[in-house]
Amino acid sequence: MEPINVLEYEALAQARMVASHWDYYAGGSDDEVTLRANRAAFERIRLRPRVLVDVSQIELATTVLGVPVQMPILVAPTALHGLAHDEGECATARAAGAAGTLMTVSTSATRHLEDIAQAATGPLWFQLYIWTYRQAEELVRRAEAAGYRAIVLTVDLPKMGNREKDRRNGLHTLHSTIMRTAYETEEDPAPIVATLTWDVLDWLRARTALPVMVKGILTAEDAALAIERGAAGVVVSNHGGRQLDTAISAIEALPEVVAAVAGRGEVYLDGGIRRGTDVLKALALGARAVLVGRPILWGLAARGEEGVRHVLALFHDELELAMGLAGCPTLASVAPALVRLP
Ligand code: FNR
Ligand code: LAC
Repeated sequence: MEPINVLEYEALAQARMVASHWDYYAGGSDDEVTLRANRAAFERIRLRPRVLVDVSQIELATTVLGVPVQMPILVAPTALHGLAHDEGECATARAAGAAGTLMTVSTSATRHLEDIAQAATGPLWFQLYIWTYRQAEELVRRAEAAGYRAIVLTVDLPKMGNREKDRRNGLHTLHSTIMRTAYETEEDPAPIVATLTWDVLDWLRARTALPVMVKGILTAEDAALAIERGAAGVVVSNHGGRQLDTAISAIEALPEVVAAVAGRGEVYLDGGIRRGTDVLKALALGARAVLVGRPILWGLAARGEEGVRHVLALFHDELELAMGLAGCPTLASVAPALVRLP
């Protein structure tokens, strides 16, 4: 049966995957309060549609850090696509390009970043974890050489969150594999990442000409610090509910971050985006675009490249319909008045 929405891909993916690998993808930390909150918060926000606007043409194309994309829906960095499909990140990259959008490649990808760039048919960002300075510098150099367009520095993982499903499944080795994938190092990477402070942005900016995004911001205070330290933008994110449990949902954190950034950089959001109306709400509250994590993995596990393409097409079509029904023919017309916060 042909899936007609993203959530149907979730069920298909679960049926196809090894249970412990599914748990790694699906799980959050502790009691998964934040994981659920990412969804629940979207449901509590209501739309205030306008009528009798000409919506015969809907314009979804935009730019992200200057890179043109066909829609404000990007692929979030997620680790280990090889658990979902043999072709791993290469299949995801081809699908993102076919959908006219951009993929963020994780430091913990199962394929080499050069091979993903080779396979890609669209623009890429590189997500960086700094687990040793020497190796991070090397990764940034390689990402630049391979044509990646930005570095997305993830800052909400000073330590791995308490993923109890993974502990129950005995996946500690998976976690250390994740931390070592791109690093191919014998050194224990954990102590370095926990020592990082805001100075890391100066360190990183001195080593790359690419724009730097800071991913994992949930407060106005940190958003301001990121911009003051030269970030081109921030990603409002709680890591899909996988790090600090009971942290605020991403969509609830968005308004204060947008206010603090005050147009000095671009603001993105991820966490709980499952419907076109979720995207619309994030855009209305000031996100330039959203990133999608788990649904991409569901598409990949269910049907490989074709599945990811379809998931992205579903998001595109749902956003287009939601904009039409809300009286918004352009992204510029998607304004804060479109939403009523609880
Ligand atoms: C992630 N996320 C993540 N983030 C990151 O910066 N680097 C990474 O390697 C990973 N790995 C990863 C693996 C898996 C299985 C998941 C589910 C998530 C977090 C990701 O970028 C994003 O913040 C969330 O997935 C967004 O939430 P949704 O869309 O999954 O609800
Ligand atoms: C995760 C890490 C790898 O969430 O970002 O599993």
